Amino acid sequence: MHRPSTITVDGPAASGKSTLAQALARELDYLFFDTGVMYRAVTLAALQRGVPIDDEAGCTRLAETVKIDVQPPSVDDGRLYDVCLDGVDVTWAIRKPEVNQNVSPVSAYPGVRTALTEQQRRIGQRGEVVMVGRDIGTVVLPDADLKIYLDASVEERARRRYQECLGRGETADYEGVQAEIRNRDQIDSNRTVSPLRPADDARIVDTDSMDATETLTYILGLVRNHDG
Ligand code: DC
Repeated sequence: MHRPSTITVDGPAASGKSTLAQALARELDYLFFDTGVMYRAVTLAALQRGVPIDDEAGCTRLAETVKIDVQPPSVDDGRLYDVCLDGVDVTWAIRKPEVNQNVSPVSAYPGVRTALTEQQRRIGQRGEVVMVGRDIGTVVLPDADLKIYLDASVEERARRRYQECLGRGETADYEGVQAEIRNRDQIDSNRTVSPLRPADDARIVDTDSMDATETLTYILGLVRNHDG
């Protein structure tokens, strides 16, 4: 079998991309790279350093200068990886509601995307990678071997994100989570640069009626039957 070496997983917020991609990478012994953490880290840097979110030039400068590192997990607290921002562990800080609320506008800035896309492409082109995001199959790695687009209804995605928050011992309200996901869908899909959309040659997988194990089994079938 000729195994696909670069696999992209795109899709809207909370569609299960990270869970699927991490399990897939483990099965194939590939690198798992969740590109959303880079946009989150730049957003956190802006919030921490008092750069207003609507300051496009300021956010772009941050994207060009901060050092974002993603490494295998060093703490057994449910994390899939460590994320460091200029040497500080921000793995959980980048998941805070403040970051959720501000990351979509930051990720819509063309200069921010250019800076981060370059770094992502460099890592992806080494191969043996499962890379997750919104524009990986369309922009970052348009020649990827296998492109997956994971989708699910907004209600189901909100339910999953809500359960995740409760699982971490956080308080959450379902309606609020759903409103935030709708808002992010709206911004991610309608921005002018690299909007969220499936690549023409992506396999679209609707996970509304599949749990994580069923989704993985289905995708492993696509990997096995890949004829590239
Ligand atoms: O997947 P996530 O929720 O961690 O992504 C956070 C934000 O980053 C999301 O609102 C859209 C943006 N993003 C992007 O624009 N392009 C990517 N390749 C990954 C994420």
